[in-house]
Amino acid sequence: MTNDLTTILYLLSGVLFILAIRGLSSPDTARTGNYLGISGMAIAFIVTIVNLDQNNLINWLLIISGISIGGLIGTYLSKRVAMTDMPQMVAALNSMGGMSAVLVAWAAFLSPGSFGLLINGFINTSSIIQMLLGILVGAITFSGSVIAFLKLQGLMTGSPIILPFRHIINILIFITILGLSTSMILDETGSHTFLFLLVTILSLLLGLLLIIPIGGADMPVVISMLNSYSGFAAAIIGFTLGNMALVITGALVGSSGAILSYIMCAAMNRSFFSVIMGGFGDEATSTQSNENKPVKIGSSDDAAFILKNASSVIIIPGYGMAVARAQNALKEMSDKLKAMGIKVSFAIHPVAGRMPGHMNVLLAEADVPYEEIFELSEINSSFPQADVAFVIGANDVTNPAAKNDTQSPIYGMPILEVENAKTVLFVKRSLGIGYAGIDNELFYRDNTMMLLADAKKMVEDISISL
Ligand code: TAP
Repeated sequence: MTNDLTTILYLLSGVLFILAIRGLSSPDTARTGNYLGISGMAIAFIVTIVNLDQNNLINWLLIISGISIGGLIGTYLSKRVAMTDMPQMVAALNSMGGMSAVLVAWAAFLSPGSFGLLINGFINTSSIIQMLLGILVGAITFSGSVIAFLKLQGLMTGSPIILPFRHIINILIFITILGLSTSMILDETGSHTFLFLLVTILSLLLGLLLIIPIGGADMPVVISMLNSYSGFAAAIIGFTLGNMALVITGALVGSSGAILSYIMCAAMNRSFFSVIMGGFGDEATSTQSNENKPVKIGSSDDAAFILKNASSVIIIPGYGMAVARAQNALKEMSDKLKAMGIKVSFAIHPVAGRMPGHMNVLLAEADVPYEEIFELSEINSSFPQADVAFVIGANDVTNPAAKNDTQSPIYGMPILEVENAKTVLFVKRSLGIGYAGIDNELFYRDNTMMLLADAKKMVEDISISL
């Protein structure tokens, strides 16, 4: 294949990736977006393989074993993973992206001739810089993602682990990495395997130290940030390999991950800097006790009665709906209400659930029409006109502490103002806390009725009583 054709095909795959991201931005075009992304990846992969084959650089046994083993594991995991476990799956995948960058950088460092990186018998300086950057970003991504995975999977504590002088330690490690790298770059022979190894180990350590102080509530932001790092690591390695498709893809992943992290931080009213500095999302932070406050607890019959007499109902799904897999039962309930002439809308908070778009995906899976689904900014002004706010498995995203309590860890986060509806029905199993670990005073308000049960069971029972 000629260089020109390779470049054109790589550009085509880049365009397909951009269109894929565009498609994924809305539920009704997401499937097409996925197909475009798959096509882009197939083109990039085939062109790379054909070029390597032309240059006799291919070991077909390794390629086929890699595709088969990786493909089988990937297919098995993606079919098995529960929607609620998606963040740890993404963390695990990010770790592979990071490790790939490290391994490619090592391969290029140990065998620069096969990568065409030698000038006068030595690795050229720009390649050394790319490899060191690839190692730094890739290793931080790898160890950081492993810690994120362990925290989300509950294999280590999700609370922040705060080491004394952690910022100073991190800065010292970073300065040491810079010093070692500079000495490698300035020495034109450049082949200090021991220094390269030290940079790798210190970068791995830095990734670990950067992520352990970050608490559970901030983990999704961290995952998207690590996703962004893995993209940049790939882009850097793309320069070393002279592979434009990798540079484009890496830059796309890197920048889209960074934008997503920013959007999530804005939705939680947290600065990106405060997230990566860590310390948020510790154990329950509320000191106020609600033990003696009166609570109105209702049954499915009570809820059905209130719903039947409403003319407008807004449904607010949250993480508990995902855990209970209640989306289909919820759709059935909403269909019954609509058949009775009741207006039903769905309100989605940008950080409801445990990953961006979590609720949108589940509602789309249950075939809830897109025109019934509204973002926070679109629907908040409608709560005062609603007869019922039906909160199902959501908690933090409705908590007025975000507006009223300056000491609250979620203070400043925009919330769905469900308390403005005439009646608030809260489906959850207990009066317990949500992800941020804080009480929700809405449970004790006069216009709130708690429906304490598993979300799916409660919604099915309500449907029967309707
Ligand atoms: P949460 O505040 O985590 O509350 C979920 C509630 O669901 C819990 O209080 C739990 O109460 C209930 N629940 C669990 N299993 C249930 C079941 N089987 N049936 C019924 N209820 C069940 O959820 P949310 O309101 O969706 O808020 C999301 C949180 O995650 C926010 O703090 C947000 O900042 C954080 N977060 C999300 C993201 C993204 S991107 N989505 C990113 C960063 C942070 P019971 O135990 O009493 O049932």
